[in-house]
Amino acid sequence: MDTLSKRQFAEIAAIARERWGLDLTDKKQALVQNRLAKMLARSQTYESIEHYLDHLRTSGTEEDMLVFFDILSTNTTSFFREKEHFDHLAEHFYPTLESAPRGKRVRIWSAACSNGSEPYTIGIHARECLPDLNNLDFKILATDLSNKALDAARNAVYPEKALDHLPRQIRATYFEPRVMTRGDKSESFYQVHPSVRSLVSVHQLNLMDPWPMKGPFDVIFLRNVMIYFDKQTREQLVQRMRGLLRAGGLLIIGSAETLSGLDVGLRMVRPAIYVK
Ligand SMILES: C[S@@+](CC[C@H](N)C(=O)[O-])C[C@H]1O[C@@H](n2cnc3c(N)ncnc32)[C@H](O)[C@@H]1O
Repeated sequence: MDTLSKRQFAEIAAIARERWGLDLTDKKQALVQNRLAKMLARSQTYESIEHYLDHLRTSGTEEDMLVFFDILSTNTTSFFREKEHFDHLAEHFYPTLESAPRGKRVRIWSAACSNGSEPYTIGIHARECLPDLNNLDFKILATDLSNKALDAARNAVYPEKALDHLPRQIRATYFEPRVMTRGDKSESFYQVHPSVRSLVSVHQLNLMDPWPMKGPFDVIFLRNVMIYFDKQTREQLVQRMRGLLRAGGLLIIGSAETLSGLDVGLRMVRPAIYVK
């Protein structure tokens, strides 16, 4: 396999920044090289990195660009990731809805939902916190750009090991077993229960594009995606999200992320949780 040249990497970094806001610093060159090598090893179409880049330059469709996005981006996620964020909602947000009038509108946005673990966690947790959830107009919007992630989020089927760390009661209540057969092997999978799937709608959205939603949202999850963006992109993104939050609404970012140093007009209530 040929090596990724500095010029090729610079070209890739420019595309990634312009289209998706991704900040591919020089430290990412080896990672990008590895990802391209894996793709080329499987490909029947492209013989080299240059051949692939040339295709993208001259005749790459939007779908080709999304495949390229999947090569460059990272979808790591899990159910109840960063549990302290859900504990905060259980203590400070859901109690405010306990005596809400029937039909009260509640909107939560999982803004980089990956394979759906995050929005379905929000749904499971909401059902646990609010036994009368069906009396509310409660909806979770789940968006991501990755086709691969969105397919997984729409299917809502996960391997058994993705649920290993969940309490038995949560697994039994909110997941249904599905056995899948591949060749002569059968594997155990679990699908999120319809009572939770029905709360979540999954849509494709590039965070760098204009957004069709008007809000207001009560809570926005923007977790573990800003790490891929530069400071200016993060600031603009959070400013736009602030515009879609209701007064008193919450923005939740990843535990390893911070808004400090950004001019966004949100107040931190605890690490990674901000209020408008
Ligand atoms: C590491 S995952 C985080 C998933 C989840 N929020 C969590 O914390 O577990 C980052 C996600 O951001 C998505 N992403 C990256 N850039 C994006 C963009 N410009 N627009 C929409 N989604 C993007 C990726 O496709 C990926 O699924």
